[in-house]
Amino acid sequence: MRTVTWEAEGPAVRTIDQRLLPGEVVRIDLRTVEQVSEAIRDMAVRGAPAIGATAAFGLALAAAVSEATDTDMMWNDLELASATLSASRPTASNLTWALERLRSRAKAAADQSPNALRRLLLQEAQRIADEDVEINKAMGRFGAELIQDSDTVIHHCNTGALATVDYGTALGVIRTAHEQGKRVHVLVDETRPRLQGARLTAWELDQYGIPHEIISDNAAGYFLNRGKVAACFVGADRVAANGDVANKIGTYMLALAAQDNQVPFYVVVPTSSVDLSLSSGTEITIEERDPGEVLNLEQEGRAIAPANSKALNPAFDITPNRLVTAIVTEVGVLKRPYTETLAAAVQRGQAKAAAMNW
Ligand code: MRU
Repeated sequence: MRTVTWEAEGPAVRTIDQRLLPGEVVRIDLRTVEQVSEAIRDMAVRGAPAIGATAAFGLALAAAVSEATDTDMMWNDLELASATLSASRPTASNLTWALERLRSRAKAAADQSPNALRRLLLQEAQRIADEDVEINKAMGRFGAELIQDSDTVIHHCNTGALATVDYGTALGVIRTAHEQGKRVHVLVDETRPRLQGARLTAWELDQYGIPHEIISDNAAGYFLNRGKVAACFVGADRVAANGDVANKIGTYMLALAAQDNQVPFYVVVPTSSVDLSLSSGTEITIEERDPGEVLNLEQEGRAIAPANSKALNPAFDITPNRLVTAIVTEVGVLKRPYTETLAAAVQRGQAKAAAMNW
């Protein structure tokens, strides 16, 4: 199951509407850059790698539907589309990473005809999507070494096939361990307020036949303290050069509780989510979302708070690197000092991608 695909008929970017899960599996066709941007903003498609691939196809879509007859006109359209797409959500590194990769690919061929640019951008977007699947499987192989037979692990948010192009990051590690025959049991943080854990991760685990229970976010400390949890696995939207991690709100509290109970805390992330331009997590922009997501029950829209109450809704938090036991990437499992190991991993990730050597 690919979460994001290119449909030549149309043309369109096709994605699963994650807002409707687990009730309905509906694919939607996004036919304009504005529709792509809105689907990302409203979280029809979500998860850092899926956002990156969707934005890449979105820029290819801008080129495909552009009426430009010369290269200057095409560049103008691409710059406008790129600005619209990159403003969709601020925290996921993959969004700007993917757009930048397409833009620099196009710049290297700046003298080519609009049609050549259309082909080239689509090829690069497709390559980002294909690579993502291979990268996830590579992370799965490295990360599964950290899971023993009969382990119970805690997982936060959704990092599975839905959050990527296919297979998943942290959930991909759990899948690989399961496919290797290890009996792995998952405690699924429900992940307030958008319930990515309860709605999406549990739905995926059910499909893969992986035993699991959903727990409320505030129950994680209780289970960690009972000594029954072997490890926590989470993804990331952006990792700073020093290993500070921006991930779904609640990740920091989970990491604190894990450390207090000497439970390893693993972050599984492609090197495309590592932002070496930021020296620490304090520089990462944290998205503030509509307070209505906290005040109303997801999907039903039913109020769960007094009409006059206000809410604060940061979508992500920063987990300091000192709470991160290891970072699993497509080039291996990284330990401290993260400033050195992450910089080397980004280089190796780029070399691997250039050689298409997974
Ligand atoms: O707001 P979301 O649902 O897009 O947040 C997603 C996460 O926080 C994921 O953990 C992260 O993007 C990694 S997904 C492989």
